[in-house]
Amino acid sequence: PPPETLLSLDEIQEAAESFLSPRTVNYYGAASLDGYSLGDNRSSFRKCRLLPRVMRDVLSVRPQTKIFGIESALPIYVSPSSNALLGHPDGELNITRGAAKTGIVQGVSAAASFALSEILREKDAVEEEIGERMGMVYQVYYQEERSKTEDQVREAVAGGCRALLLTVDSAVGDLRQTTSKMNGVKGDVEPGIKRGEFTATPPYHDARLNWDDLPRLKELAAGVPIYLKGDVRMAKEHGLAGCILSNHGGRQLDQARTAFDSLRSIHAEDPQLVKDIEIYIDGGIRRGTDVLQALAFGARGVGLGRPFLYAQAAHGEKGVVRAVRILENEIITAMRLLGLTSLDQITPDMVECVQEIWK
Ligand code: FNR
Repeated sequence: PPPETLLSLDEIQEAAESFLSPRTVNYYGAASLDGYSLGDNRSSFRKCRLLPRVMRDVLSVRPQTKIFGIESALPIYVSPSSNALLGHPDGELNITRGAAKTGIVQGVSAAASFALSEILREKDAVEEEIGERMGMVYQVYYQEERSKTEDQVREAVAGGCRALLLTVDSAVGDLRQTTSKMNGVKGDVEPGIKRGEFTATPPYHDARLNWDDLPRLKELAAGVPIYLKGDVRMAKEHGLAGCILSNHGGRQLDQARTAFDSLRSIHAEDPQLVKDIEIYIDGGIRRGTDVLQALAFGARGVGLGRPFLYAQAAHGEKGVVRAVRILENEIITAMRLLGLTSLDQITPDMVECVQEIWK
C-alpha cells in the first residue's frame, strides 16, 4: 500500500513484513531468550493512563524541543540500529534524508550497513537541499582495537555529528534461540553469523570496555556531548551530558527492566535527578501517547528503533517521512486532548499508573 494510506506504525510494520524475506523479518523482530523484555517494552505503557485537562486554549500547540542539545521538530529521534540495508537498498541513507526533511535527529549506528563516510556524504547533500543543518548523532561501539573506534569517532565529529551515544550493554552477543519460536521462522539470526549449538550474535563491543576508557573518548569528542546508553547515576557521576535508558529493544539481557519502568522508578526515588541530567528512553514506543507518558516522568525525548527500520524498508525515504508524520499527528492530537500547548506543561500528575512498576 502507498505510504499515505498507512495510518499507524504498526501498519507500516505490517506493510514491510508482507514482502520482506523471512530472514529480515526475523532479524528486525528478534529478541533474546523468551522475549520478556521485548513484550514488556510495549506493555509498560499500557499500565498507565492519562488524565487530561480541559477548557484550555489548545488551538496552537508546539511539539518542538531539544534532543541531545539539537533543535528538534518533535520529542522523538531515530535510535541507532544496524543493517537497514537488509530492508531497502538505500538503507540508512533513507533515514538520513527522512530525518533531515522532517527535522528530527538521526542516531547513526556504529554497525550501520553503509560506511560512515557515505552517510555523512548523504547528510551534506540533504543539508544542501533543505538549506539547513540536520541533527545527526553517532553511536559508538568500542572495538577491541581502540584505534579503530578512535578513527570512527574522529570521523563522526569532524563530519558534523553533534553528539555521541555510547552503547555499553552489548559486551556479549545476545542469545536468540527462541527467535524462531517468536516469529515462526527458523533461519539466519543475523547476516554472517555462523550457528553452532547456540545461536548468538557476536559481541558488539569489547567486553573490556570500562570507565577508564572514558577520558580518551571525551578528548576525542572535542566538546561534542556524550550520552551514555546505560546508567543515569553513572552518567552524572562521570560528567556526561546525559543518558539513554534502554534494554536494547529486548535484544540483549532478557528480563532487563524496561526503560519506561526505569524512568518511573528513578523519578519516584529522585525527581531532582531527572531535572539535573538529560534522560531519554527507548523501547516499545509506537504511539504519540507513549511519547507523552515518557515526557511526563521527565524524559527529554524518546528513541524509536524498529519502526524506522520497517518504514525505510516499506517505502524508503518516503516511509521514514510517513512514520514521522504519523507520530507528529498523534503527538499533537494527544497534546490538544490533554490540554497542553507545549511539552514542558506535561507533569507526572497527568499520568496515573495502575500497577507496580515491573508488572
Ligand atoms: C538495534 N539497537 C541498536 N542499538 C545500538 O546502540 N546500536 C546498534 O547497532 C543497534 N542495532 C539494532 C538493530 C536492530 C535490528 C534493532 C531492532 C535494534 C537498539 C535500538 O537502538 C533501540 O534501543 C531499540 O530498537 C529500541 O526499541 P524499539 O523502538 O525497537 O522497540
